[in-house]
Amino acid sequence: MLVQASPWHAHALQRTAAGLAEPLSVPARMEWTTRPGQGPGAEVLGPDLRGKRLLELGCGPGHNAAHLATLPQALGSAQAGGIPTGARVTGVDLVGLQVRRARSHYGRLTNLTFVAGHALHYLHASDERFDAIYSVFGAVGLVTPELLLPAIAQRLTPGRVLAFSVPHPQRGGRSPSGDDRPRRDHVALPDRTRLPIARWEFTTDRWERHLRQAGFWLTSTQEFHDPRMGHRPTTLLIRARRL
Ligand SMILES: C[S@@+](CC[C@H](N)C(=O)[O-])C[C@H]1O[C@@H](n2cnc3c(N)ncnc32)[C@H](O)[C@@H]1O
Repeated sequence: MLVQASPWHAHALQRTAAGLAEPLSVPARMEWTTRPGQGPGAEVLGPDLRGKRLLELGCGPGHNAAHLATLPQALGSAQAGGIPTGARVTGVDLVGLQVRRARSHYGRLTNLTFVAGHALHYLHASDERFDAIYSVFGAVGLVTPELLLPAIAQRLTPGRVLAFSVPHPQRGGRSPSGDDRPRRDHVALPDRTRLPIARWEFTTDRWERHLRQAGFWLTSTQEFHDPRMGHRPTTLLIRARRL
């Protein structure tokens, strides 16, 4: 019932009502920011992802997972002779409705699995090792980093990438957390209602400290702007490697 009542359930409910959950063509690129077409793509996760095991935490409708599962999409073949050419991707989302939506869009892709559940619970229950784990405005930043980052480290092969994008802590004139506690934020629903959520709004230094404590080294940070949302950066993309 708690999940049913969560802002993320309301978000999924309105999104589902707004658009048909029908099969979609696979997006031609991976999006890390609020502005489609901007910034890096799948290469953030590694140079050759074909056949690799990838995990997305907070996959929503599954667009990025579908892109990664069908690499090299740019070459125009989702599958060559029935053999999947992309990565083997698992997308986890807290909300069953999102998972149902993702399956309606991309359930036909054989090397793509969508699972309903809390990111932390999924990581704790899994005994798989992944070649990369990622989150695009998903569970990283929405779950206590002191719990989530060590759980990710447990399931990631040493040397491999964790990458996540989060709303920039200084977007719209905000200031980053001065401590390790979450801040109040909102989920904006399609009908413009704003429902409160907690979000960890760290500077890159604070993310680096938490990553180091969990067994990662931070390899790059990038910020992105979206002119539709003023002159301040809107997205922070962080890339780290498992020690
Ligand atoms: C802003 S949406 C982003 C969806 C997707 N990554 C994208 O870029 O379109 C955030 C998603 O994270 C999911 N989420 C929130 N908390 C989560 C958690 N603890 N575990 C797994 N998923 C979570 C929500 O249900 C929602 O689908």
